[in-house]
Amino acid sequence: MAVLEIITAPHPVLERPARPVEPDEFGPELAKRVSDMAETMYAAPGVGLAAPQVSDPRRIVVLDPGEPEDRGRRFFALINPKIISRSERMIPWLETCLSVPEFEIEIQRHYQVQLEWQDVADGSTRTGWFEEFEAVIVQHEIDHLQGTILLDRSSRFKRNRYLKKVSKAKKKDQVIA
Ligand code: NI
Repeated sequence: MAVLEIITAPHPVLERPARPVEPDEFGPELAKRVSDMAETMYAAPGVGLAAPQVSDPRRIVVLDPGEPEDRGRRFFALINPKIISRSERMIPWLETCLSVPEFEIEIQRHYQVQLEWQDVADGSTRTGWFEEFEAVIVQHEIDHLQGTILLDRSSRFKRNRYLKKVSKAKKKDQVIA
C-alpha cells in the first residue's frame, strides 16, 4: 500500500469529468489502486476520496465515515458509482475538501441517496441507500467525478478570493525554494 499525493485546486484534473472503469480493468491493479486510495484517505485524514484527487481520471471512490476507532466498519469502495434515487428532503452541510484546503462552504444535499456501483473484486453490481453524513459524502465524491469541487458551488467572490490566496502562497513558496 502507498499514500498517494492529493492534488489541490486549481488543477485541470479536478475539473475534468472522470471516465468509467472498463470491464477489462478489474483485477489486482484496480484492487491496489483502491487500497492505496483508502490508505491515502485514512492518512489525510479524510472520510472520502475520489480518484481524480490522486490524478486518476476514473470513476473510483472510497469512503469511510467512521471515527478512527471504527475504521473499516463502514468502508466502501465504489467503482463506477451512480446516484439512482434521491430523497426530496434536503439537509444543509458545512463541507470541506482535501483538494481545497482551508475552505468550507455550506451546501444543501439530499438527505438520502440510493447508489448503484460495481464491486471492486468481481465487477458485480451493488446498490445501497446512504443517509445523512454518508449521503453527503457520496454526493460530494460524485461531484468530484463530474469535475465539480466546492469552489464551483461557492459564490464567485468567495471562489476568486480563495484562488487569489492560493496563487499568492504558491509565489511565496517559489521565492523560498
Ligand atoms: Ni473533496
